[in-house]
Amino acid sequence: MTTSILIVAIDGPSGVGKSTAARMLAARLDVPYLETGAMYRALGLKALDEGVDPDDPSAVEKLLTRLDLDVELTADGEIVVLLDGVGVQPRIRSAEVANATSRISVHAPVRRFMVDLQRRWASRRGAVVEGRDIGTRVFPDTPFKFFFDAAPEVRAARRFEQLRQAGEVASSLSEIQRQVLERDARDSSRAESPLRRDESYVAIDTGLAGPEEVVDQMLRTISARRRTLESG
Ligand code: DC
Repeated sequence: MTTSILIVAIDGPSGVGKSTAARMLAARLDVPYLETGAMYRALGLKALDEGVDPDDPSAVEKLLTRLDLDVELTADGEIVVLLDGVGVQPRIRSAEVANATSRISVHAPVRRFMVDLQRRWASRRGAVVEGRDIGTRVFPDTPFKFFFDAAPEVRAARRFEQLRQAGEVASSLSEIQRQVLERDARDSSRAESPLRRDESYVAIDTGLAGPEEVVDQMLRTISARRRTLESG
């Protein structure tokens, strides 16, 4: 990776508003944004479609050899995830896919496949990349790392609203909160690239600020850090 390529990493648990902020920040920085969760979700969807058990390591490894996954950018900067050449955006948003995805994401070959694809994609033009392991595993050397967090009630409410907008008849808010916490526990405790934060991140509580404020804060941090890097 050359130093002229700008990579911004945003990590954090479910429902903290990473995608909204990443999309807005990318537009302000004039680079694409990459929602890595959508890539993992496409694999989760494929497992469900093909009746593959997401907890079975060898079946999942075989599934990867048949995986045709691509991420394209539309003219207005939106990303489209293509599974076997077909856009899967609405289907990957269901709670069923979210659950299968969290389970399939624990396998080491899955993570290697995705990390490799994400590095190649983002290194082409720079990007704002959001997920769970972007600053720890995918781009550990970027000086621009943000970790979003918010109270579980705030995150569950956001997920509930996302599911409603996606046309899912969501279960109760308390059931969504239970699922969100279960997924977070799995994402944070897996052996391979768990969700975790270290001192190289700037932490942002997204329960306390709206997306515009969060993006402004990130832009200020990035500018300040760039100045420091240029002068050093
Ligand atoms: O951000 P999301 O809710 O769309 O992510 C769906 C699942 O994908 C999440 O439970 C964990 C997994 N994931 C991951 O393991 N690593 C990433 N970089 C992004 C998502």
